[in-house]
Amino acid sequence: MYNSKIIGIGKYVPDNVVTNQDLSKIMDTSDEWITERTGIKERRWVVEGSDDTTATMGVKAAKQAIERSGLNKDDIDFIIFATLSPDMYFPGPGVQVQHALDIKTVGALDVRNQCSGFIYALSVADNFIKTGMYKNILVIGSELHSHGLDKTTRGRGVSVIFGDGAGAVVVSREEDNSKGILSTHLHSQGEHAEELVVKAPGMGTRWVTDIIADNDENDDSYFPHMNGQFVFKNAVVRFSEVIMEGLIKNNLQKENIDMLIPHQANLRIAQFIQKKFGLTDDKVFNNIMRYGNTTAASIPLALCEAWEEGKINEGDTVVLAAFGSGFTWGSAIIKW
Ligand code: UT7
Repeated sequence: MYNSKIIGIGKYVPDNVVTNQDLSKIMDTSDEWITERTGIKERRWVVEGSDDTTATMGVKAAKQAIERSGLNKDDIDFIIFATLSPDMYFPGPGVQVQHALDIKTVGALDVRNQCSGFIYALSVADNFIKTGMYKNILVIGSELHSHGLDKTTRGRGVSVIFGDGAGAVVVSREEDNSKGILSTHLHSQGEHAEELVVKAPGMGTRWVTDIIADNDENDDSYFPHMNGQFVFKNAVVRFSEVIMEGLIKNNLQKENIDMLIPHQANLRIAQFIQKKFGLTDDKVFNNIMRYGNTTAASIPLALCEAWEEGKINEGDTVVLAAFGSGFTWGSAIIKW
């Protein structure tokens, strides 16, 4: 059995910055409310008509990750793409990356686990590499939320939170079993599927033709809905559990954590976890203030910036953790 190691990391965000003040001009909200409840000050939203899509942003992040890995694109032998906002209903964006990067006909897998998507994707990559099936896997998390949000006061509880962007890593075979991804931990609880959901269009619920036929201007089933307080309460419990699970599995103590990268859902959630684990400010990385919640992109985007800022160094114990729609949650314990 091998280990797997992140050897390259990249990111991409669209240029267009949307501040809380900008949002207060189009819906009944305020910088004060958004900052106090979420920590978010601004996010990136793709401008209508731009070339940026979930797939193209993923490709840009992937190119940077491959370049920084020192590999050639043709060394990549598998692609995994995590998103809840694919360009097309099907096929998923994995194949668009294969085509855009002109990588020979390697497999491309799409992962649909929302905010936990990147951890799930990383876990799949890790296990494919551990068994020796693949050597160099490209893992991407990318989201274009802004086109699908209800940007009226009706949708303010959700739309002020989400932003667009992408992150990517190259995961590669590591022969030293004490280095790289030490373990990943995945969970779900489908009884809460509708607490954070986009119900339509869905083959089993309402398809696009039903929506058009109904022509109901009050229909909001195709916008995301979130039972915010319920999600928040579950998030803080599950984040803590799944980080502990990873530490216990590797005989580590909370004092051994050099860097925690929590999924960027809400700064208050991250601060709660930081306090619970007794971590100093330099041991937790947050960028939700600048990007909002970018779902499957949030962890690779934060990991990339932490690494670029020199906050992650060789030998560090890095913990990634996520919770979100599904509910799904997970963690990864990495020896960098
Ligand atoms: O990434 C996936 C996982 N997601 C999460 O973990 C998110 C978890 N939940 C949260 O982060 C928080 O619940 C929110 C930030 C979504 C909401 O914060 P909250 O403190 O739970 O607020 P609330 O939903 O209880 O709403 C409080 C009030 C309501 O007004 P009333 O009923 O008290 O009069 C809302 O209508 O705030 C109102 N409100 C807003 N006001 C101004 C909701 N959204 C807004 C807004 N601007 N954007």
